[in-house]
Amino acid sequence: MSTRVSIVTGASRGIGFFIAKALAEDFGHHVIVTGRNVTRLEDLANQTQGTITVAPADITSEQDRQSIHSVVDTVCQHSDHHFFGIVHNAGLLIAKPFNELTEQDWNHQWQVNVLGPALLTKTLAGALTESKGDGKGKKHVVAISSMGGYQGSKKFPTLSAYSATKAAVASLAECWAEEMGPHGVHSNALCLGAVQTDMLGEAFPGLTVDMQPKQMGQWIANFYSEQYTLFNGKVLPVAGHDPG
Ligand SMILES: NC(=O)c1ccc[n+]([C@@H]2O[C@H](COP(=O)([O-])OP(=O)(O)OC[C@H]3O[C@@H](n4cnc5c(N)ncnc54)[C@H](OP(=O)(O)O)[C@@H]3O)[C@@H](O)[C@H]2O)c1
Repeated sequence: MSTRVSIVTGASRGIGFFIAKALAEDFGHHVIVTGRNVTRLEDLANQTQGTITVAPADITSEQDRQSIHSVVDTVCQHSDHHFFGIVHNAGLLIAKPFNELTEQDWNHQWQVNVLGPALLTKTLAGALTESKGDGKGKKHVVAISSMGGYQGSKKFPTLSAYSATKAAVASLAECWAEEMGPHGVHSNALCLGAVQTDMLGEAFPGLTVDMQPKQMGQWIANFYSEQYTLFNGKVLPVAGHDPG
């Protein structure tokens, strides 16, 4: 029985924390967790019944993306460990009216939400396409998008730049499916509705929603780990209602 090796970006808090925990505890993945807050990543590893390797990284740094690749190589030196995929969960939301968004606000969100996932996938594309993945040659890359980036959804004031980046990363997942699908790599985007995390609270102080990060994290872990054979190149809304 082989072990699937997976990367979860932005696992130090919020939804990513619970995706990583569920993948390790409920689905038996060896999970490589990334983010900038090393203390929180180590707390996650210590409180998880399962195998987690901490790979500190700022997703916007080429050097850090290369160091994630090195960790994947090291973990996959175990002959029964196969690289299975990536959950691109790390994200940045800067809530401002369109007329107040600065070039820096646009650039920063583009770097974290689009270029980070794009270039990390590029860095790992060779390792992914060559991997045995689930043992049958299948792998899975999931981009965490937002209902704000889902075509035709109701849009939120103050989220124009964020929503544009989330539409872009969803489109990337469709493109990866075309280019890497023939190598067994399925790629999908999940457009989440609102979840009660620090990101939501910082953007909309006082707003409360029913969906908790643990429930959403567990749902995403199940989709990523178990539901990949039937989905490739799909952009899926994951929300109880519109806009979420
Ligand atoms: N919460 C919602 O309502 C909602 C709705 C739709 C979509 N989403 C999406 O779901 C994902 C998770 O959201 P969340 O609500 O859990 O957000 P969160 O609580 O703010 O967590 C964001 C995570 O991203 C990481 N991150 C941010 N910038 C990074 C960088 N430069 N390099 C590496 N990691 C970075 C953070 O880790 P460090 O600080 O340790 O780097 C943190 O672990 C995001 O992609 C978000 O856009 C959320």
